[in-house]
Formats: sequence, structure tokens, C-alpha cells
Amino acid sequence: MTYFKNTELIPEDPILCIPPLFAADQRPNKVNLGVGAYRDAEGHPLVLTSVQKAEVRLLEQNLNNEYLPMDGDPGFIEESLKLAMGEDSPHRSRVYASQTVGGSGALKIAGDFLKEQFPNSTLYLSHPSWSNHRHIFSRCGFELGHYPYSHNHTLDFEEMCDAIKMMKNGDLILFHACCHNPTGIDPTFDQWKIISTLVKEKGLFPIFDMAYQGFSGGLDQDAAVIRHFADEGHEMALTISHSKNFGLYGERIGLLAFFVDSADTVKKLASQIKSTVRGIYSSPPAHGARIVKTILQSPELTLEWKEELVNMRDRIIEMRKALVAELYSTKSSIDFSFIQNQRGLFSMTGLNREQVSLLRAEHGIYMPSNGRMNIAGVTSKNVKTVAEAFNEVL
Ligand code: LMR
Repeated sequence: MTYFKNTELIPEDPILCIPPLFAADQRPNKVNLGVGAYRDAEGHPLVLTSVQKAEVRLLEQNLNNEYLPMDGDPGFIEESLKLAMGEDSPHRSRVYASQTVGGSGALKIAGDFLKEQFPNSTLYLSHPSWSNHRHIFSRCGFELGHYPYSHNHTLDFEEMCDAIKMMKNGDLILFHACCHNPTGIDPTFDQWKIISTLVKEKGLFPIFDMAYQGFSGGLDQDAAVIRHFADEGHEMALTISHSKNFGLYGERIGLLAFFVDSADTVKKLASQIKSTVRGIYSSPPAHGARIVKTILQSPELTLEWKEELVNMRDRIIEMRKALVAELYSTKSSIDFSFIQNQRGLFSMTGLNREQVSLLRAEHGIYMPSNGRMNIAGVTSKNVKTVAEAFNEVL
């Protein structure tokens, strides 16, 4: 007898199913190109030295472990917002922000709240998008639509704009602020300007997911679209993850910000978001917020962190080049030069589901079945193996 006889077994998460499979693989030359987490030149997880130093400072302060407010640590919120909006943003008084449980937590809180505000609207995602976008927003009850995004490894700008023109007033549209996951392709700033105008003309509500600030052109450049939309007067939501740019994956540290029309609306939103948080997890965890705040409030640690961020970005760019060069030298039948032009952790290799499973079975190379690869998993030691394996399965 079970109460769960009608409970169905559902497929595993396409990305988070990979780490245990990879860990169980006994082959010494296995390569993990799966979950989007940075790896150092040896292929290992990286703990930033700025983070280590911040943790020492925190330990020395002998802090207590009281609950944070429902919307988190105010010092962290200010610092994280400054990274996104720039110092002294003229928009600060029309922004409400809450610390969240990672970027996923920000999306979930935003989704639950927005579904109440826009009960009959469609929420549009790029096609493709991060698989968890669909998962989170459909669980919030949204009807989802998709807009074309990439074709032949480049941005499908015309088609994307045409699709936006077909959306209804009051629909919602999610954009990736930089380092689009999974394609690694972003609109140029001029294209963002056109998108902003279209979004305004159509009366859409934009949501920006920014999980990779600093991994494309730099901290300011990667947030330029947010600042532009703010300057253009949009009301919008912004979800931020500090998993990648601070290497704080397991600390679950993120931010949700709403840009609205006035300080009066900010107050109402604050009450709503706090109530949403209270109904799910009451208040966020403290440690990740304290680390980020400690770094960003210290000029010396901020400088060190920025250098570490540049190093992570540069290593990925270097590995993009190395992989393309290796693919050329192993006489790939496919032009992989696009990998070099893309930014952030990911590129869509174009490998199909069967080729991905062959890579795993024959070569111990792991990536999600849609063929997305985490470039940070490539090192100068494994790049040749990866290129040869790609060629073999093709
Ligand atoms: C990814 O896309 O691999 C990361 O954002 C990790 C995740 O939660 O999916």
C-alpha cells in the first residue's frame, strides 16, 4: 500500500544529473564539460583568494547566526546593486531589491510574484534558454512562449525582433544580460537599444537574468544593457547570481531587483516580495552575503577579486582559442570557429544527443544532451583529447 501509486517517475534534470555520473566514472582521463561551474587550469574547482581572505575576516569578527531579514543583508544588497547599476545610479530610489537563494531563488521569487501580477500573460524565453528557466517559470504557473534566438551559431536578430513584435501588451520576456546560457551569444549594445525600443512599444515586462557578470567584456560592459533599460525608464526585474563571479556556487547567493516607477511602488513591492519569501524559506542564508559584502566593502579585496575575475574570464577565452586550434589541427570536418567568438562559460557544440552519449560512453567526456559544453572544463592538458573525441564522434 502506498499513497504514491499515481506518482510518476520524471526524467532527471539535464544538467544537475551530470556531477554524480561524472564522479562515478572511474576513467582517469574523464573530462567534465557539464555543469556551468568554473574550473582552474588543472580542471579543479577554484576558491578565490579574495573569498578566502573575506572568510578569515568574518571568522575574526565572531559574528552570531541570527536570522537575516526576510529580504536579506542590507549591506550585501547595496553592494550587489552597485555592481549591476553602477555607483550612484540615478535609479536607486525606484529599485527594490532582495537577497535570494542564488539566481534560481531570485527567478522563483520573481516568478511567483509576477504570476500574481500578470495572471493571464505569457512569459517568453529565448529558444534555446537555460533549461531551468522553463522549469522554474512553468512551476510558477506561467504559460510559456519562445522567441527565436540563434541560428548557425549566430544571433538570429531579425527573427527575434519579429517575434517580439508579435507579443501582446502585458506579456513578459526574459533576456540574459550577458553570456547567454547555453549559446554564448549576446546581442550587441546597438541591438539591445533596438530591443529596448521594441519592448517599450509593445508594453512588455522585461526580466533580465544576469548570472555571468564579468565573464564577457567586464563588469560594467556586461551590465550595460541593464543600465540602458533603466535609463530608458523601463519597469523590469533583474535576477543576479553570484555563484560564478565569486565562485560561491554552494553558498546560494543571489539578488532579485525590481525597477519600478516610484518610491511609493517600491514600498508595496517590498511588502509583496517579503511575503513571498516568508511563504517559501522565510529568510535567506547569511554566509554568502557576508562574503560578497566583505569583499565589495573593502577596496583591497575588491581589487583582488576583480583581478581573479579577469583571470577566470581570460582562461576561458584562451581555452576557446585552444580548442578551436586543436579542432583545426585534428582536421575537423566542421567549422568550429564560432566557439572562439562566443563568450561566457558555454557554447552549443552542435553535437546531437547520440554524439553526446557516444562522447560519454567512449571517451568519458560529459556534457548535457543538448550539446552545450562548459568551456571552463577544457584545460591545456585535455584540449587535445577533447578535440580528437569531438572529431571521432562526428
Ligand atoms: C548551468 O547552467 O550549468 C548552471 O547554471 C548550473 C545549473 O544550475 O544549471
